[in-house]
Amino acid sequence: MSTPLPLRLSAKASRTADSPINALIAAKLANPDLVNFAAGLVDEATLPVDEVAAITKRLFGESRRGQRALQYGTAIGLRELREALIAHLERLDGRHVGDLGLSADDVLVSTGSQQALYLIADVLLDPGDIVITANPSYFVFTGALQSMGARVLAVPMDDEGMDVDAVERLLEQLQAKGELARVKFVYCTSFFDNPTGLSLSTPRRRQLVEIVRRFSTSHRILILEDAAYRELGYDGAPLPSIKSFDAENQFTIITQTFSKPFAPGIKLGYTAMPPDLLDQVLRQKGSHDFGSSNVCQEIALETMTDGSYVRHLEVLKNEYRRKRDATLAALRANLTETAELHWTHPSGGIYVWLTLPKHVNTSREGRLFERCVKYGVLYVPGAYSFHPDAQGRTPNHHMRLCFGQVTFEEIAPGIERLAGAIKEEMA
Ligand SMILES: Cc1ncc(COP(=O)(O)O)c(C=O)c1O
Repeated sequence: MSTPLPLRLSAKASRTADSPINALIAAKLANPDLVNFAAGLVDEATLPVDEVAAITKRLFGESRRGQRALQYGTAIGLRELREALIAHLERLDGRHVGDLGLSADDVLVSTGSQQALYLIADVLLDPGDIVITANPSYFVFTGALQSMGARVLAVPMDDEGMDVDAVERLLEQLQAKGELARVKFVYCTSFFDNPTGLSLSTPRRRQLVEIVRRFSTSHRILILEDAAYRELGYDGAPLPSIKSFDAENQFTIITQTFSKPFAPGIKLGYTAMPPDLLDQVLRQKGSHDFGSSNVCQEIALETMTDGSYVRHLEVLKNEYRRKRDATLAALRANLTETAELHWTHPSGGIYVWLTLPKHVNTSREGRLFERCVKYGVLYVPGAYSFHPDAQGRTPNHHMRLCFGQVTFEEIAPGIERLAGAIKEEMA
């Protein structure tokens, strides 16, 4: 066969990088003994196979419902599911949704929360528009922002999550430069975030809403609250959503998902957002897929109404809590925390974030990564989650560990291998 002529790709395609994680997942396939703390996947053994088997049997046991499940639906999603989801959000926040200006008409069901994040960014951003995020943050979404040509400006974070005073200072600077009109939204992974496992503190949640309100002079600057890990909380009192501080459903969007608390295979997310934004997002979703899978939506509806969702979540949380504890205990047993070497102690989610001494290079091309592969353990280099600072520098002495997919038994030996490699590198 002759060599095909090259494709003439769009500017957007050329701005879109391949996911760095694909290569890390492939490494696991090449060496099945590898303990893979890199893949951000959920625990396979806890997936709700029996619950979903019972639900699908019921669903397809009734021909009317079975037919509805196998038919096309609407772009916004199944009404009964959206009603169940709005009641769910109400329970999570302990607030009457009416007090937040919300109803089932403000909720979109999407193909994973990733699709909602993408569509929202797509209707808001032109190349050169500004999105503010924390450093580090969820690299799949910031990668999508990059491919849309957005300018991603990152502010630091600490144990209380994104530094919202830094957001305020940044907005002041942009205002002084006459660039406020280009600021479209602040992206914040507010609960047990990916990659650090940390959450935004309650006072900062309130403050962030107050800040975007104040800087919304000629257009609304929105907060895109990504709450993918919200329901995986293991200790401490539940935090309110950022959305719950926006009484009129004007400035905040909250995205949640069935992927983490239930099963990623049904690939459904849901988002509550201001109605004028939803109108625009629905137009885009109409041309993307004109509605998410009805079979999956019927399954999601059943699991929310028959009690299996809540029961499953408890099983899942117990298992993740056990794995979180084992990960932290193994780190403690093998490494000593210092000012230069430390890690987060998340109270939920599936990630632990390690900071190493500055001279230890965790990047994919560095010696530590190679050493870890040799010893049979994988992590995600922290640099993937960072945005370059004003001087174009990206820190490369961090790593993300995910205890979601590894088995409980793999954790202690996996961390021992990792710690061994780190100690050799530090020596
Ligand atoms: C922070 C965050 N947001 C959103 C998503 C998207 O998940 P999904 O599309 O499965 O809902 C992920 C997936 O890992 C995530 O880590």
